[in-house]
Parts: sequence; structure tokens; C-alpha cells
Amino acid sequence: MIVIRNGSLVLPDGLAKGDLVLDGGKIAQVGGSYAEKPEDELVDAAGCWVFPGFIDAHTHMQCWTGMDWTADSFETGTRAAACGGTTTIVDYATQDKGMTMPQALDEWHKRADGTCTANYAFHMAIADWNEQTKADLPGIREAGVSSFKTYFAYDHLRLDDAQTLEVLEALKPLGGTLCVHCENGTLVNALQKRVFEAGITGPEGHPMSRPDVCEAEAIDRLLMIAHLAGDARVNVVHLSTKLGLEVIRAAKARGQKNIFVETCPQYLLLDETCYLEPGFGGAKYVMSPPLRKAADRTALREAIIHGEVDTVSTDHCSFNLKGQKDRGIGDFRKIPNGGPGIEHRPALMATSFADTLGPHELLKLLSENQARVFDMFPRKGILAVGSDADICVWDPQSEWTINAATQHQNVDYTTYEGFHCKGSAHLVYVNGVLAAKDGEPTGAKPGQYVKR
Ligand code: URP
Ligand code: ZN
Repeated sequence: MIVIRNGSLVLPDGLAKGDLVLDGGKIAQVGGSYAEKPEDELVDAAGCWVFPGFIDAHTHMQCWTGMDWTADSFETGTRAAACGGTTTIVDYATQDKGMTMPQALDEWHKRADGTCTANYAFHMAIADWNEQTKADLPGIREAGVSSFKTYFAYDHLRLDDAQTLEVLEALKPLGGTLCVHCENGTLVNALQKRVFEAGITGPEGHPMSRPDVCEAEAIDRLLMIAHLAGDARVNVVHLSTKLGLEVIRAAKARGQKNIFVETCPQYLLLDETCYLEPGFGGAKYVMSPPLRKAADRTALREAIIHGEVDTVSTDHCSFNLKGQKDRGIGDFRKIPNGGPGIEHRPALMATSFADTLGPHELLKLLSENQARVFDMFPRKGILAVGSDADICVWDPQSEWTINAATQHQNVDYTTYEGFHCKGSAHLVYVNGVLAAKDGEPTGAKPGQYVKR
């Protein structure tokens, strides 16, 4: 047994003192005083918060995104995740056009199985909606996939409104959740052309061609279609704008149920002035949706504090600046969309919300709500007897600085270079195995597929 002592256990109803006992891959005791045996391993967590491992439900590892392959494999990405305190990811397996969902799922297993430091589950992104795809849905659900994704943007991925309605209707009897990329792709294509033809070719053209209206309109359309489907269960991913938030508030105020909201650290910490970084540095921040105005960031931060956001995930979708992003020099439309973040999310959230969010709120946003929304609760997301022994012993006092030279993400930059953090993952257990210590991997690869 591993006995974690002297820490503050972060439980759903508050902090508690007592021992946390791990037996193999499961939690055997929460609180109280455990009578240790000579063979037990005692771990001193004095001064630390002991969380159920953090969950990042939005990643793109080893994925072809239409422009390039993402830089992190499952091996490097989940290792970086564990170094930062994240013990489970939910990655977007993607059915490209001309491919079936079982083929996509097989492919994602081939890429991930046996390589992972953190646990991994899969959403299924649907790009080819047809009779076969519909017929395959129950089998995919049986294979442990309970959440799906569709896009309103990206020509090689997007579905139209009627198809989106059909997907929602087909997921309902399966209890599935549809995550949706909400940007109006038709408008984005037209605005990209307009901005480029006006002579704006650098990264600053990216946010200009994807204004907040493109996001808010698509969210509104999604929520209306979900309502038409009988308040089908939807998750608005990577919410980035105040206007989009207002649309969600309006739908909830009308009484619409089953709306979940995700945002990402980049929309809470950064803003569109990043695109002006000299020397093509703005390309680091080319992701979709783009970074927004300071007022959007403020609105989203308030929404976090008021509990209007269910989950904070990363949309980790890494591309190197050299050799990948730099192919867009002279045409911002050719910069692969996406940025890294999986390693730094817990520290960024703990640091930047230090005055407003305590361990209890961090638990909800980074672990418990993720497990609930994505059908892993109470196996994950809670310190409870019988739950998986995924644990993050968090030192809230440690101070350190993010930089690309020392990160484990397999990419040549970080969007948070020089960011001073307060708090770090001291010990990270995945299925009862120590996977990372003080930000460094142990070399163990205990990550397993999470069948949901
Ligand atoms: O720019 C991003 N985020 N690329 C990843 C695909 C997506 O939109 O989630
Ligand atoms: Zn994404």
C-alpha cells in the first residue's frame, strides 16, 4: 500500500485531514488514520493539497489536422500531462471523410496503446455523417466512447445544420454528449479571403478573419438545433468570447437543459495583442478560435468565478514554430491552427486565479466536473474508496517559471514563456504508480485506456 499522510485531502465538500491509502490501482481508504505495515510505503504530503488526478478533456495528440501532424505523440503528450498533474486525457479520435468510425478508433488505439504515462479516453469526431456512420454509433458507444464531436468550421471536417441535428438525435438514445466546434466556417472562409486580399498576410490576420460574431452565431445555432432535438446534451468547447457566453446565458435563461461549457487557459490569460509579437512570433498563438480582446478575457474569467463554466481543458494541439508554423510566413491561412498547453494548465489556473479560486473550485474545474460531464465519475474525479488511484499531490507554495527549454511538451515553444507560477504537482500517481515527481517524469508508463 502507498499511504499519503499529512496533506489536505480535497474532497467534494471541502478539505479534510487524514490518510489516503492506495492499494494497487485503486483508492483503499480516504481519511482517518491507517495502521501501517512494514511493507507499506509512507509518503509525507505536509503542506500539500491532495487532489484526484486532473483530467484534460480536450487534446489532439498525433493527429492530422488538415495542414500538418501535431507535434506531440501520445507518448510525449501524456508524459508532459503527468508532469503537470494531469492523470487522464480525453483525446479527439477523428473520423476523416472516407473513413469509418471503427477505423478511426482502431487507428487511435494503435497510436496510444502501450505508450502512455497518463490514462487516455477518446471522444469521436464525426466528419463523414452517413448511414454507415449512424449504424456504427452503438458499437462505438460499446467500445467506451460516450462523447462525440462535430465541427461548424474547417472544410474537411464540418457538417451542415441538418446533419448536426441528425447526429444529436442519434446520440440521444445512447446517452451521448456532442462537443461542438462553434465557428461559422462559411463566414471564416469569406473573411480570410477578404483580410488576405486587403494585404494583411501576417498572424494578425488570423483573429481579424474569425471575429467573435463567428463564434457566437455558431453557438446560438448549435443551441437552437440542440433544443430542436429535445434539449440534446451538448458541450460548447473552447468558448472564447463574451458574445458567445451571452448566447449561452440566454439559452439557459430560456430553460434549455443539458448545456455544458468548456474554456481553455489561453482564453483566460492571453489576448489578441499576442499576434503582434515581432518576427512571426504571433504564429505561436494561431489557434481556433483565436485569442480575443481583453474584455472577452475579463468576461470569461468572471464566468469561471461565478461557476458558469463546467470545465477548463487545453485544446492541446501542438505544432513547432520552426518547420511547421513557419510554413505560413506570407499567408496566415497556412499556419497550422493550434497550440500546446497540456503540461501547464493546473499551474496556470492555480496561479492566475489564486485570489478567487481555492482547491475546491480547482477540483471542480480540472477534475470532478470533467469526470461527470464525460462519464468517468466516480471512477475518476473524486477521492473515494474504490476509485482509480490517480492522484495529484499539489504543493501550493512552490514557485517556478514556465519555459520551453525545460518543458516536456514535444514542441519548440510555449505560449507562457516566462510566466511565474505559484504551485506545482509534487507527486503524480497514475493507477497507483508514481508517474511524475516535481515536474519530472519517472519513466513509468502506467496509462490505460478508459472505457467510458
Ligand atoms: O486551433 C485549434 N484549436 N486546432 C485544433 C482543432 C480544434 O479546433 O479543436
Ligand atoms: Zn480542439
